[in-house]
Amino acid sequence: MAAVHVCFNNSITQSSCNLRRLFNLERENISGRGQSVVQVNRKRVLNASLSVEVEAPDNVGKLGFGKITKEVIEMEGKVLVGTYARAPIVLERGKGCKLFDVEGKEYLDMSAGIAVNALGHGDADWLKAVVEQANTLTHVSNLYYSLPQVELAKRLVGSSFADRVFFANSGTEANEAAIKFARKFQRHAHPDVKEPATEFIAFSNCFHGRTLGAVALTSKEQYRSPFEPVMPGVTFLEYGNAQAAKELIQQGKIAAVFVEPIQGEGGIYSASKEFLQHLRSACDEAGALLVFDEVQCGLGRTGFLWAHEAYGVFPDIMTLAKPLAGGLPIGAVLVTERVASAISYGDHGSTFAGSPLICNAALAVLDKISKPDFLTAVSENGLYFKELLKQKLGRNPHVREIRGLGLIIGIELDVPASPLVDACRNSGLLVLTAGKGNIVRLVPPLIITREELELGAEILHQNLPVLDENNSN
Ligand SMILES: Cc1ncc(COP(=O)(O)O)c(C=O)c1O
Repeated sequence: MAAVHVCFNNSITQSSCNLRRLFNLERENISGRGQSVVQVNRKRVLNASLSVEVEAPDNVGKLGFGKITKEVIEMEGKVLVGTYARAPIVLERGKGCKLFDVEGKEYLDMSAGIAVNALGHGDADWLKAVVEQANTLTHVSNLYYSLPQVELAKRLVGSSFADRVFFANSGTEANEAAIKFARKFQRHAHPDVKEPATEFIAFSNCFHGRTLGAVALTSKEQYRSPFEPVMPGVTFLEYGNAQAAKELIQQGKIAAVFVEPIQGEGGIYSASKEFLQHLRSACDEAGALLVFDEVQCGLGRTGFLWAHEAYGVFPDIMTLAKPLAGGLPIGAVLVTERVASAISYGDHGSTFAGSPLICNAALAVLDKISKPDFLTAVSENGLYFKELLKQKLGRNPHVREIRGLGLIIGIELDVPASPLVDACRNSGLLVLTAGKGNIVRLVPPLIITREELELGAEILHQNLPVLDENNSN
């Protein structure tokens, strides 16, 4: 059995517990106060010791990361498929808008798990809903009825344009379901037509997910090309080009148009009211469906419960996911009765989706974020934050634009954003990139306070010089 020595001090005893669990480490003996000597269980972990052959990223160690962080990163490099270029911190716990890593360092979270943790971390009502439901009934499959699922659907229908809901487990799955529903709708609406409309329109800078249907609708070529052939029949048009969309929709082959009212991953670009209105009328004239992907911008983030309320334009289908269950996996497809009537038993389904546990958590989230006072606070805090950012960052020559609605804000730079994002993280602030990598994306928990927004803006401000340092050659 290969030994590894992991030293803990008393302040991170919690870390040590989690680490042991994570690595299935077995305590061999205790040597001294607050210090453990642990061993790796080879059978369960790897046929190698933790004193590694896999190199940690270059900056681990150089930046003074602790031993636990280094160990975890090295192990991740051995046991996980390398799909994620992660930041070199290991997060262990969170409360409100704060996160703490295994070394005990505190971060202000303005990433919210990529626009997921709308109520922050460990919201008491959300936690109660999860714990009580887990104690009562967690999962039964969709072979049976369950109370929280029906209640959540009722609440979503009651607060939106929609008549019915289909539950999924993620944003990409919600979009996958919307693709199927759109095609089935066209077949159902035109039973005598030999080749009903099966094609789709999506737009520049859009992101709809990673599964083979949703990725076919996603504009970044590098997400699609390694997996060709993806779903055929998708045309990408310029976001905002209503005329081009109208011309294509009129040809009668388009089953549905997928559009984000505010693009998140693509770079925090907002649609104009006219653009969405034109899409709506072109779809109506040709019998195509209009799908709003509100996976990132929906559910209160804009200060409106639904982002499309800011435009007064309504879809036939809306997809939701990220914040709906406050950090637990969920997706939802909201549809009109007209769309739902095309769908029959067996057309689509999911084992996990809509479980009592997830739906009860989502009810707790929806309860809070749909309150008018909550939404007003998001709006007002969003305006305050955007103004503050303009004051503090707007004069920097690398800052091109600060834009967004509510608490989805983008800072567009004329240089790559990652040096600033990395510097902020070292200073205790977590923010994201977006677009072609030159946009800082801010999607904090919706419960964030003014003081926290001020702190975030100040940390961004103080780290701005890094943009020059990285672009001086
Ligand atoms: C607008 C939009 N749609 C779909 C997705 C895919 O969601 P998921 O990662 O849950 O599959 C995302 C994820 O970022 C998104 O922002």
